[in-house]
Amino acid sequence: MGCQNTVLIVDDDERLLEMMEEMLSGKNLRILTTSDSLEAFELYLTEKPCVVFCDYVMPNMNGIEIMQKILQHNPQVAVVIFTGAGTVTNAVEAMKKGAYDYITKPMDIAKMSVLIDRILETQAIRQEKEVLQQQLDQLYGFENFVGNSEQIQHVFQQIQRVASSDSTVLISGESGTGKELVANAIHYSSSRKGKSFIKVNCAALSENLIESELFGHEKGAFTSAISKRIGRFELANNGTLFLDEIGDIPPSTQIKLLRVLEAKEFERLGGNDTIKVDVRLLTATNKNLHKAVKDGTFREDLYFRLNVINIHIAPLRERPSDISLLVHYFLEKYTSQMNKRIHRISNNAMLILESYNWPGNVRELENAIERAVVYCQGNVLTEEDLPPNIKAEAEGVKLTLNLPSYSLYGAEKLLIEKVVKQSNWNLKQAAATLGISRGTLYSKLDKYKIKKPK
Ligand SMILES: Nc1ncnc2c1ncn2[C@@H]1O[C@H](COP(=O)(O)OP(=O)(O)OP(=O)(O)O)[C@@H](O)[C@H]1O
Ligand SMILES: [Mg+2]
Repeated sequence: MGCQNTVLIVDDDERLLEMMEEMLSGKNLRILTTSDSLEAFELYLTEKPCVVFCDYVMPNMNGIEIMQKILQHNPQVAVVIFTGAGTVTNAVEAMKKGAYDYITKPMDIAKMSVLIDRILETQAIRQEKEVLQQQLDQLYGFENFVGNSEQIQHVFQQIQRVASSDSTVLISGESGTGKELVANAIHYSSSRKGKSFIKVNCAALSENLIESELFGHEKGAFTSAISKRIGRFELANNGTLFLDEIGDIPPSTQIKLLRVLEAKEFERLGGNDTIKVDVRLLTATNKNLHKAVKDGTFREDLYFRLNVINIHIAPLRERPSDISLLVHYFLEKYTSQMNKRIHRISNNAMLILESYNWPGNVRELENAIERAVVYCQGNVLTEEDLPPNIKAEAEGVKLTLNLPSYSLYGAEKLLIEKVVKQSNWNLKQAAATLGISRGTLYSKLDKYKIKKPK
């Protein structure tokens, strides 16, 4: 957008220019004027005004031609054309070709002044909206989504690929792995990002409430329906609807949901009017929906509809290479939020965090770091600052090995060497004994430089 508060006036009548400049001088605007139609565009290019007033009839180049050159360069500039009284066709032509408005001569400065205020106000709002949108994109886009493991990189790629489509996406993964973050990233990198993004947590709603929440109801549809209610599907029209914990919706709602997905229409509870909607649906679950289908608690047809694209987020214990990155990310987040001066985390504390099992995944890690930052007194975060249960697990490893004086690093290395050797380098079996995935075992072998003897 152009320079705020800069207004360019183009008219071949120099006396009129002087008068307008003087009359508008009290408005805290930067007023530029020119009577030369050829100079007008040059002036626009160097000064980037956000409002341009331009006379229709000018020598060399008329007002419409100047306007078109400017709009071609930046369609956001508001161009207002002066037309002679009684020349309606000129005004119509100006509006058709993209003028913001027209003013008929003789000039009414008061009208011009009001118009400038209105334009500047609209532009300020638009600019504010753009800034907010950028902030949202940052907040919910990829900037706050951290991970360099192969699994997370694959999730990033999937998000980028599906964002531009309207396909339904089922996001699966254990609790705290970042499913909502993925839903946010999809919406805010899709073409629907400027439209509504409505979230519904299906597990938080009782069987009775969920249908009126999703589809709305008419007044009197049931005893407590004292007024009409617009449902989430309607609110999300043209945007995205995120149904979290989709595995928890009751069978009766499953049928209705299927119908909306297939026909893209529904009725409010107690209503007769069919409502058409254009909604992109994202869903998430920490349940195994495939198993729920087999058990008969989730409709198979709905499952296929929802699972057009599946984005699965692996639990944190299966992608240990993300731990250090996440730790540093949250450390920075919380030290700056709490205005603390913590420069780094001790090696021991990091080793403890890296070998912990993380049943609560990233959410648990984030909480652990937040808590540790609160407790940390110096400028290095140490194992003393970590939550007791996480330290206790590390202690447990030391005790099992009966190696109280070993560092955790040494203890883990030793344990892995021992188990791998016992299994005769059968890594599938060794991983099972250690209670970790084969992927984790590979990365640990790599980390501790444990190699199969030749
Ligand atoms: N890769 C990541 N990078 C940064 N922060 C993350 C990441 N994954 C998760 N988080 C953070 O962890 C917390 C939990 O994430 P989120 O709410 O998206 O998980 P969820 O899978 O929806 O969990 P639940 O199943 O319990 O609803 C959030 O604060 C989120 O910002
Ligand atoms: Mg969630």
